[in-house]
Amino acid sequence: MWSRKVKFVEQSEHSECGITSITMILNYLGIPVSLNFLRDKYGVPKGGNTLFHLKSIFQDFGISTSGFKVNDLKFFKENNRPCILFWDNKHYVVFERIKFNKIIIVDPALGRKKYSYKDFWEHFSSVVLVPVGMDKDLHLDYKIEKKKNILVSILFKQKLKIVGLILFTLLIQFFALGIPVITQRAVDNYKILSQDLTVTEIMILIGMVFGVYYVLQIFRTILIANFQNYFEKNLMTEFMKKIMSLPLSFFVNRSTGDLIFRSNLTTYIQQLLSSQLITTIIDMVFVVAYLSLMISYSVQLTVVSMFGIAIIIVSSFCNTKRYQYLTDKELTLHSKIHRTLVELFEGMETVKSIGAEKQFYEDWEKNFIEQLKVQMSKNRASGFIGNIATATQFIMPLMIMGVGIYGISNGSLTVGELISFNAIATAFVTPIITIMGSYSSIMLLQSYFGKLSEILEQKVQNEDSKEVFDEDYESIELRNVSFQYSKFEDPILKNINISIGKHEKVAIVGPSGSGKSTLVKVLSGLYSPSEGEVLLNGKDIKGLTQESIRQKVSMVNQNPAIFNMSLKDNILMNKSEVDESLFMAAVKDARVNEIIDMLPMGYETQVSEGGMNLSGGQMQRIAIARAIVNTPELMLMDEPTSALDNISENYIMNRVKEYDFPCVVVSHRLNTIQHFDRVIVMYQGRIVEEGTHDELMKKRGLYSYIYSGNLEASELKGEQAIG
Ligand SMILES: Nc1ncnc2c1ncn2[C@@H]1O[C@H](COP(=O)(O)OP(=O)(O)O)[C@@H](O)[C@H]1O
Ligand SMILES: [Mg+2]
Repeated sequence: MWSRKVKFVEQSEHSECGITSITMILNYLGIPVSLNFLRDKYGVPKGGNTLFHLKSIFQDFGISTSGFKVNDLKFFKENNRPCILFWDNKHYVVFERIKFNKIIIVDPALGRKKYSYKDFWEHFSSVVLVPVGMDKDLHLDYKIEKKKNILVSILFKQKLKIVGLILFTLLIQFFALGIPVITQRAVDNYKILSQDLTVTEIMILIGMVFGVYYVLQIFRTILIANFQNYFEKNLMTEFMKKIMSLPLSFFVNRSTGDLIFRSNLTTYIQQLLSSQLITTIIDMVFVVAYLSLMISYSVQLTVVSMFGIAIIIVSSFCNTKRYQYLTDKELTLHSKIHRTLVELFEGMETVKSIGAEKQFYEDWEKNFIEQLKVQMSKNRASGFIGNIATATQFIMPLMIMGVGIYGISNGSLTVGELISFNAIATAFVTPIITIMGSYSSIMLLQSYFGKLSEILEQKVQNEDSKEVFDEDYESIELRNVSFQYSKFEDPILKNINISIGKHEKVAIVGPSGSGKSTLVKVLSGLYSPSEGEVLLNGKDIKGLTQESIRQKVSMVNQNPAIFNMSLKDNILMNKSEVDESLFMAAVKDARVNEIIDMLPMGYETQVSEGGMNLSGGQMQRIAIARAIVNTPELMLMDEPTSALDNISENYIMNRVKEYDFPCVVVSHRLNTIQHFDRVIVMYQGRIVEEGTHDELMKKRGLYSYIYSGNLEASELKGEQAIG
């Protein structure tokens, strides 16, 4: 029933250790939830989960838990079963059990690890959460519909190829089986044969066999290559399509390094899934045919061969668990190293300016050395597997001969049969040995597939069932909208009600962290509200396709990304039919022309990756031009000019105001938005004031306070922030 072991689940982000530990415990208790499911349902609070959060998640699954403060090993000896431990004062891990004076910990970040008592107390932070009871009758909503295995479904798309492949393999096997049989006949009837056939005739026959076999093999190789190609293509396209269709919220709390690592897995899989491996796996299926032929020759000899094969298989299986464990560990380390590298390269400027090179190096080195160690143990382990198998294979003909000569002497076996049996036994063992030898690859494939399917199995909303929005913009409205990243955190937006009509220019202001950016993302449809609805012309945007919304709504983010292509392409973004005059106007209004004038290559200047050869203000101007060129019917701007000097800022905002489209602008510098139709003041996730600049100033509330305080700050900023 319950497995004795806790199955390792890896967290994909550091504050996820709590829900990952819960996933492992729930799986152990026979509740098959996935980490994805818990993440979707509960979210991940910024600072991770408290023990109280964990308790209440368990409660939802009908499991009552008790928290204890533990200072004595006796507790674990008496409760020697999985529970959650607080670790290093900042982390959760799963206690599996005590075995041979070692404590086995399954760490969501590191995998299974054994600790001596002494080491254990160095990490353990004295608090445990133990499942104590289970309410079996609770009908939970976790009942995840039977997961359809993505890999299987990809495979099934090519039934015809599979059938063809199997047929060819059958033919080839049939052929291969014929050779030992013919050998046996030839050896046992050599006298008759040598009278009936000349050497030339025998050679011609052999030549014909060669020809047929060769042609069959060619067909099979091509079929396999085809099949492999198809499978990989589908796997990768499925993956990329999934990545593209996942909502923004999927990406915000994930490390880029981890995502890149997972994307690269498709390439690793491609390398591992060599045609050799596929051939062997297919051949495995046909060992049954060999086996029956072997039995038909001699039961005794078959038993002897099976003995050899048993040694090979048992020795490999003994190492299986260790190998799997090491592979998982290696993968975890790989992805950590990768993450460090990505963080380092992305943040090089900051790393250099604060002198954090040493820290990064040490971080990298620690994981790298660890990875080398794991790799070494892995090689050692695979050396053991490989060599037991090779040695056994080496002595198998001897074993067969050794037993076989008795069969010949008592007449139960002919010489031809013994020779033929030996050939069949070799053909029988070869795929088994190869599979065992490719064990590492197969294990690795399994791990890789596991990590990939975590993304492939993410649920996305089906865009096909949604309506295309092609009306002219009338209004956008937030109705009782709340937004939270995690069930356990205070909502970041609380009960927001606003409506923005045609031609309206609305500004959003408020202290930083008050939820302005989040509000804009909800308005744009990038985030779905946790509660309430977003209505575009009175229609809930949940039912409208993202693509059609993007065509109507332009957004300038707080940190716009500029891509590695020409300036012009960065503004046009693959739009083909852009009116020249519109383009020129956008460029002028966003003051991009000033940048262009300074560059010898003009609009064709190539932007380096991440816009490294541009200043923050230049990038912002390009982003604004990009948004205008999109001819939006609603413009959303999140601090679009924060890195610009006051003069440019005023100029650009005044130009933007002249456009027909309604716009919502988040801004810290209140002088630029004074003449907007309406100002919305946010504070701690709520709208606290709303009105025109003059009305709000008269009110002497938060706005007037920010206004008076902010003036100085913005003047100071103007000096240094020359974009
Ligand atoms: N990805 C995230 N996960 C969890 N909390 C977040 C995330 N992004 C922002 N927050 C929190 O949401 C709150 C509002 O953030 P934001 O909308 O960016 O504020 P503003 O734009 O007004 O400065 C802040 O407290 C911030 O810490
Ligand atoms: Mg913001």
